[in-house]
Amino acid sequence: MSTPSTVDDIRRAVSAVVDPELRRPIGELDMVRDIAVGDGTARVGIALTIVGCPAADRIEREVREAAASVTGVEDVRVDVGVMTPSERAALVERIRGVRSMPFTPDALTRVIAVTSGKGGVGKSTVTANLAVALAARGLAVGLIDADVHGFSIPGLLGLAGEDGRPPQPTRLDDLMLPPVAHGVKTISIGMFLAEGASPAVAWRGPMLHRTVQQFLTDVHFGDLDVLLIDMPPGTGDVAISVGQLLPHAEVLVVTTPQAAAADVAVRSGIVARQTGQRIIGVIENMAAFALPDGTVVDVFGAGGGEAVASALSAAGDSVPLLGSVPLSPALRRGGDTGAPVVLSDPGDPAARAISAVADALTTTRPSLAGRALPVSPA
Ligand SMILES: Nc1ncnc2c1ncn2[C@@H]1O[C@H](COP(=O)(O)OP(=O)(O)OP(=O)(O)O)[C@@H](O)[C@H]1O
Ligand SMILES: [Mg+2]
Repeated sequence: MSTPSTVDDIRRAVSAVVDPELRRPIGELDMVRDIAVGDGTARVGIALTIVGCPAADRIEREVREAAASVTGVEDVRVDVGVMTPSERAALVERIRGVRSMPFTPDALTRVIAVTSGKGGVGKSTVTANLAVALAARGLAVGLIDADVHGFSIPGLLGLAGEDGRPPQPTRLDDLMLPPVAHGVKTISIGMFLAEGASPAVAWRGPMLHRTVQQFLTDVHFGDLDVLLIDMPPGTGDVAISVGQLLPHAEVLVVTTPQAAAADVAVRSGIVARQTGQRIIGVIENMAAFALPDGTVVDVFGAGGGEAVASALSAAGDSVPLLGSVPLSPALRRGGDTGAPVVLSDPGDPAARAISAVADALTTTRPSLAGRALPVSPA
C-alpha cells in the first residue's frame, strides 16, 4: 500500500539513522532524498558526502533496515548518491559551526597529555584503556596518538587493518573525521605516514609542530569532554609543541615501579610543568601481581609510582598517585588483539586499576577556576 503516511513514516525512520563518522542523524545532515512507495516496495534516495565513503555500506544497510521496519513495506531499494560540492560545502560549514575552529581546549574540554620518561612503560596501553573506560562512562572522548617514534594506539584499539596499517581518516573537504573505536574518536600520526616511511626519520621539529597543530585544527572531534594525548616518551619536540599549543593541558605521568624509570619520569613531569602544564597525577604500571596461591611477584620492584608522586609534589603542586596497574597477561593480550581489557575483561586486576583512575578523573575537578569538568555526557 502506498500512502503519504507510509512515505512520512519511512522518512522519519530513515532520517534517524546515524552517520557513524559524523555521529549525527542523516536526516539532520540533509542526506535523505526522495522517497517513494509502490506495490509494497520503498525506494529511498540518500546522498553521501563523498564517493567511496567508508561508512557507506553501514549507512545503506541501516537505511534499508529502517525503511523495512515500517508497516506496509515489503521490499526496499536504496539509491545511493553523492552530494554536490556545494551541498557538501554547506554541510561542512554546519559541522564546523558546532565548534568554532581551531579547536579551543579552554572551553569544556579537558585535555590530558599522558607522558613518561622512559619508553616501554606501558603508556600507550594505559592511555588507550583509560580513553575507552572514560567513553564507557558516557563521556565524549578523543585520543590523539602523538607518538612519532612508535605510534601504537590504532593497534591497541583494534583500528589497524589486516596489513597492520591504521585506516586513513575520512576527509570532508578540509575537515578530517577521526575513526571511532570503542567509543573513542582516534587520530594517530600513523594515519599520515606514507607506506614504509620511518616515523622517526620522517617527522622533525617544525614538521611535527605543524602536524600536532593540524590534529587540533583540521580534525573534527566535535564537542569533547576529554581529549587524551599519547605523547612520545621523554621530553622531545612533541612535548614542547603540545606545551605551546595547549598550555592549559593537564599531564598524567606513567612510570613503572622501578627506581630508574621513576627518575626520568620525574624529569619529564618537570619539563611539562615548565611549559605551564599542570600535573594531575601519576599512574604506576607493571606493578606487582599476585599468583593464584597468593604469592606476590614484583618483577619491576615497588615504590616507583609513590616516589614519582612525592618527588613531583616536592617540586611544586601536590601530585597524587592515581593508580597502580599490575602486570597482567589480559591487559597485554587485549592490546595485542585490539580489545581493550577494560571492556573485554573488566574484572582483571589491571582493568580494575585503570577503571579506578577513570573514576577518579571523572569525579575530581581541576583546581583552576572556570575549568570545571563537564558533567553531562555528550
Ligand atoms: N601492566 C602490563 N602488564 C603486562 N604487559 C603490559 C602492561 N603494560 C604494558 N604492557 C605491555 O608492554 C609493552 C609496552 O607497552 P606500551 O606499548 O603500552 O608502552 P609505551 O610506554 O607506550 O611504549 P613506547 O615507549 O614504545 O611508546 C606492550 O607489549 C604491552 O602489551
Ligand atoms: Mg607508546
